[in-house]
Amino acid sequence: MVNSSYDGSDGQVSVDVSESAKRSHKDNNNADLQDHLVIFDTTLRDGEQAPGISLDPQEKLEIAEQLARLGVDYIEAGFPVSSQGDFDSVQAIARSIHGPAICGLSRTHVSDVDRCYEALRDADKSRIHVFISTSPEHMEYMLKMSPEQVLREVHTGVARAKEHLEDVEFSPQDATRTSVDFLFEVLNEAVLQGATTLNIPDTVGYGIPWDFGQLISRIRREIPGDYIISTHCHNDLGLATANSLAGVQSGARQVEVCINGIGERAGNAALEEVVMAVNIRSDQFPTVSTGINTEELARTSRLVSRLTGYPVQYNKAIVGRNAFAHEAGIHQHGVLSDRRTYEIIDAATVGQQGSQIVLGKHSGRHAFIDSLEKMGIHAHGDVINQAFRRFKDLADRKVEITEADLEAIIAEEIGMDVEEGYVLESLEVSGGTEGAARAKVVLSRSGSNQEATSEGNGMIDAACKAIEAATSTGAELAGFNVSSVTGGIDALGDVVIQLKSDNIKVSGKGVSTDVVEASARAYLAAVNRLIRAKNRTTHDYSTLTADTGP
Ligand code: KIV
Ligand code: ZN
Repeated sequence: MVNSSYDGSDGQVSVDVSESAKRSHKDNNNADLQDHLVIFDTTLRDGEQAPGISLDPQEKLEIAEQLARLGVDYIEAGFPVSSQGDFDSVQAIARSIHGPAICGLSRTHVSDVDRCYEALRDADKSRIHVFISTSPEHMEYMLKMSPEQVLREVHTGVARAKEHLEDVEFSPQDATRTSVDFLFEVLNEAVLQGATTLNIPDTVGYGIPWDFGQLISRIRREIPGDYIISTHCHNDLGLATANSLAGVQSGARQVEVCINGIGERAGNAALEEVVMAVNIRSDQFPTVSTGINTEELARTSRLVSRLTGYPVQYNKAIVGRNAFAHEAGIHQHGVLSDRRTYEIIDAATVGQQGSQIVLGKHSGRHAFIDSLEKMGIHAHGDVINQAFRRFKDLADRKVEITEADLEAIIAEEIGMDVEEGYVLESLEVSGGTEGAARAKVVLSRSGSNQEATSEGNGMIDAACKAIEAATSTGAELAGFNVSSVTGGIDALGDVVIQLKSDNIKVSGKGVSTDVVEASARAYLAAVNRLIRAKNRTTHDYSTLTADTGP
């Protein structure tokens, strides 16, 4: 059982999760109490049920370790009776994760509950989560049970779980499409049998915030007992976060959430959204707080995305790559003066990079000059005016403006040549399970060809070493990331390589259906950037400008 206690001194909860949350059920009008909002993460159970996700036990363990660093209260690690693999994963997590309590899901059958307990028994703290469907649709077409039979199952399943553990959660699946009278009968039975958490699943994402909030309020008022209320909201109408927050406002003190909002169909409420809404709008949630270490949010999101293969949409709240990016001129001008003009969250508090200015057709002069300055180009007066006009023309035709584009524009305005880069003319690689991999590259630059060969630890390593041999930059590899742009066996591999030399760090990107070729292209793009960056540091643009003032 997870024990927690209110320390009584400063309105903050120490660790006793379920006790403080239960007290909120009883003392909900006492605004002096700061309740702990229990964060129940179900990424490894409901999240893993998303189509196409299949994590192996090692990957689940890696995610569980990161969830522990993030500071969640519960990790729902799986559904032990569903397969030997799930049982093993839950057991491995129960044995090695310390900090969060570990939870296993179970149907009401006695043998399922026993199997669930078996997987959890070595955990420091654990919970059994018993569920059964209660809506007419599910009882008639799925369970083929009458309401009376379902009620008996609730009795049996919860009572059995209680024989094993003090900490028992009960969920009436499809609660939001269940008649309120039957729902309350079932919930009462679960509390009588010892359930300490009543979870209210909006299984098909049918809830609307005010309606869902009222249901939670009624449960609090009308079901007597010592328990806390939990929300479990799916996102079929895009309302999972809103419904969870409405639940919290009405007295729920646990939210069931997934990283990046993954889960069945349209997914579950996103952990990062619920947590940050409670943090940022503490005026609306004055009596609750979470124990989440928010600086770990972006890292956790990236890990889950990488291991599940589910990309995070660019405009995803909190963790999307555009969550702190600004393109419109007025916005860019605002955040360059003070980020609070268009940002309600300090990016660093969620582990993201702060205010990123993205140059595009909506960008203004301020952002344009700022980008040049970040590249080490200090141009003024007519040069800037002309270059800005050229930039706007280009932006109308091209979606993304790269550093190389900017440099070409400005160099043309001041009448100097842009350093020409290397071009990959050909790449040949060989390798396999026997012997070293080999690569031969032919590069061209300013009309002449350079050729080099190298061996390596795998074909990617050999290709990158051959490019290094041909270009002699002396750079060292500072980062390598490969991801798939599209699905399927012929997916485009997207490689980003970072190189470091003399305190200059650059990155290059390459895309191809062949990851070795994508890697070679990324390496060469980084080499070209490095050469330009080094030349720039020895070149003072401002002396070449017709300087008529800033
Ligand atoms: O969505 C749902 O109803 C569930 C239950 C098992 C809690 O995931
Ligand atoms: Zn669910």
